[in-house]
Amino acid sequence: LVLSSTQALAQAYPTRNITMIVPFAAGGPTDVIARIVTGHMAQTLGQTIIIENVVGAGGTTATTRAARAANDGYTLITGHMGTHAASVPLYPKLAYHPEKDFEPVGLLAGTPILILARKDLPPKDLKEFTAYVKANETKVNAAHAGIGSVSNVSCELLNSVLGVKPIGVPFNGTGPAMNALVAGQVDYMCDQIVNAVPQINGGTIKAYAVATPERNPSLPNVPTTAEAGLPAFQAQAWNAIFAPKGTPPDVVAKLNAAVVKALDDENVRKRLLELGSVIPPAADRTPTALGTLVKSEIAKWTPVVKPVN
Ligand code: MLT
Repeated sequence: LVLSSTQALAQAYPTRNITMIVPFAAGGPTDVIARIVTGHMAQTLGQTIIIENVVGAGGTTATTRAARAANDGYTLITGHMGTHAASVPLYPKLAYHPEKDFEPVGLLAGTPILILARKDLPPKDLKEFTAYVKANETKVNAAHAGIGSVSNVSCELLNSVLGVKPIGVPFNGTGPAMNALVAGQVDYMCDQIVNAVPQINGGTIKAYAVATPERNPSLPNVPTTAEAGLPAFQAQAWNAIFAPKGTPPDVVAKLNAAVVKALDDENVRKRLLELGSVIPPAADRTPTALGTLVKSEIAKWTPVVKPVN
């Protein structure tokens, strides 16, 4: 029996360490989700998965690097709603296309968006916050993780619902942005729940609302945006693994099987759920389902975001 080199590669894969690029700073939501899931995937695959945080340009610097990496299954990226959807209409000169330059591997987690503020920001609820931001538009600032990041795009959506244009303060990820919010250096942020649960429970920041139809079980006291008087603001992000285009299908299948196994693991599920993530049901975990999600998310964000130069 003669195997082609691609078949031989897929059968043996993986024979060495795998690099997982995370396009934002360590300690932020994408990093945390990637570490929880790849920790388990590494056991399944029998190889170490090294997380490499590559920051800049709202995650698009790292995503460009991943698109150009060897398509042999040894360099992967944990991308998200920003890097693999909203960045397409936002950056007309984007150096990659999420559909043309990547093989979808698997969805890791849905991440509801919360409206958060520094602990001592005067408004005590979302109605007061709305009035406050409108009255102080030129003074308040909103932290985000760079143009095209989830925090940026979600707060742009919130700001358009409120009809305000506050000052944006960019960071290399919402990990460092959260540190600034806790320290009272910035006023508010629209962030993925994973980053916020420990801080809300620790009382170091305020949460005005979660932008999903239902309350999140990890934060039962935080109202939905509809309950808090702003039903028009609905936002949930997602994080997922992608491989460079042309990665052999058998390699993608092995990686996807490792994702699925991780998402079925009791400890992985517990950690993701404690942080408020939505664990994708089986039907949403296939590479095909992720490809469909990317397409629909690009279509969803195209009329919403305005291109930057
Ligand atoms: C991060 O990990 O820092 C976030 O996913 C950034 C964001 O997109 O808001």
